[in-house]
Amino acid sequence: MLFVPPLALALVNLLLLSWVLFRRRKARSSQPIILSSPHAIRQLLKPSNLNEGEKLQSRAYPNKRLVQAFGIRNTFVSPSTDVHTAFRSKAQDLIKPFSSSSSGESWEAFYQLTTRIMHAYLDAHSPRKDIGSNQVVTVPFDPFIRCITFTCILLGLLQISQLHPSSVDFAEIDHITSCINEMWTLSKTPAGVPEEMRKDVNRRLIVLFRDDERFPNPLDFVIPTWETLWRTVAHTLVLSLTHPVFDGLKPAGNGLHPDTLREGRNLLASFADLHRDTSTLFGTPRPEEGPPSPESIVLETMRLHPPSRRIARARIPRSPSTDAHSYISLPSMFNARVFRRLRAIAAPTPDVIIEKADIYTAQRSPSIWGPTAAQFDPFRLNPASVTQEQKEALLMFGYGSHMCVARKWAPVAVGVIMEALAAAGVMWVRAPGEGGRQEEWEVDEGRRGWVGWEVGFDRSRCGGDV
Ligand code: HEM
Repeated sequence: MLFVPPLALALVNLLLLSWVLFRRRKARSSQPIILSSPHAIRQLLKPSNLNEGEKLQSRAYPNKRLVQAFGIRNTFVSPSTDVHTAFRSKAQDLIKPFSSSSSGESWEAFYQLTTRIMHAYLDAHSPRKDIGSNQVVTVPFDPFIRCITFTCILLGLLQISQLHPSSVDFAEIDHITSCINEMWTLSKTPAGVPEEMRKDVNRRLIVLFRDDERFPNPLDFVIPTWETLWRTVAHTLVLSLTHPVFDGLKPAGNGLHPDTLREGRNLLASFADLHRDTSTLFGTPRPEEGPPSPESIVLETMRLHPPSRRIARARIPRSPSTDAHSYISLPSMFNARVFRRLRAIAAPTPDVIIEKADIYTAQRSPSIWGPTAAQFDPFRLNPASVTQEQKEALLMFGYGSHMCVARKWAPVAVGVIMEALAAAGVMWVRAPGEGGRQEEWEVDEGRRGWVGWEVGFDRSRCGGDV
């Protein structure tokens, strides 16, 4: 019998363990692969070889920074099919009143609410200046859009009943929404979001919502609903007011100063009366104005400025079946079967591969949209001229079984908010100096880059029931 001194045995085991650990290093991510053709994007977002749990895991993995950043626990960061079913059906319930037989009443209520919120905000923020017969009110642009859309989502979609438009504390909402904005930016830095900031925002939201039962973790719903909507409203307003000064999108910039607005037609008129019959009016151009329809304006805005520029998935290798804890004695090492098993244990774990659907690039592809692909032209989406290939290239709401449940609701909601803005007397959006360049609006996917921007209202023109 072979005698091995205990010390030598321990040493050999230690060496063996180091070798196994060295080879079986932790799964790590390599450089992400970027996919920008609509075909490749559709294949990524609708994989045929994954079951439901694997699809959710492949989405949750690249989104895990959102757990640290916001403390969210919803389906975007969870591999659980139970979490997915519950979250999706809760989101669908929120939208149901807008697509049921009483949808007319729901949109009427949404419009009235939006109008009241805007008036409350403008009353609270700026004294009226009488200029001739006009009563001009000017407020900073992005805080205004952030606050009114946030309040609309809370009251009009999430039905937070303890809030009332006339008693909303806009300073508090401004604080919360600007923090969420900053948290996005910080979430992409190595240091991440400071814990105190995350806790503070969550505490404030819990106080605001006061609805533990329906929304135990408010950010789970605030992020997918408001965070996407406010940037779409901001971009739609800017583009509607500057059309047809399409060169506002050229790198040379400008086009956003009120002087230039006189040159163009104000597209806001296309949204008039929308809430009265959204199912007919959204896709139909106004007879007196002609094309484009509200739908074409909103979708063209989202084509150029998709709120989720990239949608990521992880290719997570299935780990080899191992039994890493089985004890292997020194003599048995010379057994070939055990040796093979040992080699399997020690096999390096393949890397996780992150693939990103580059929606932004796909939706601006000249091969699909022609040489003016990067310019705002809502006429291109006229039902008479838009091609099937172009329709299929609009991927701002994702694709496949995890496509956005609000893909029909959200564009109409943006349209009704535009209608309310027009009725509140919005006149212009002004960038500081010679600003207003496309690159500026796009900083951090439209979250930042609005510094110094203002929006002006003529409140003597304002209509709507207040
Ligand atoms: C402009 C507004 C919005 C945009 C651009 C947008 C965009 C998206 C995108 C791109 C996805 C797919 C994500 C992925 O595949 O990983 C998605 C999924 C989802 N969205 Fe939206 N969204 C918007 C508004 C909303 C609203 C208002 C709600 C709630 C009522 C909502 C609820 C959801 C849900 C529940 C999913 C997950 C669906 C699933 O996993 O089965 N979204 N959204």
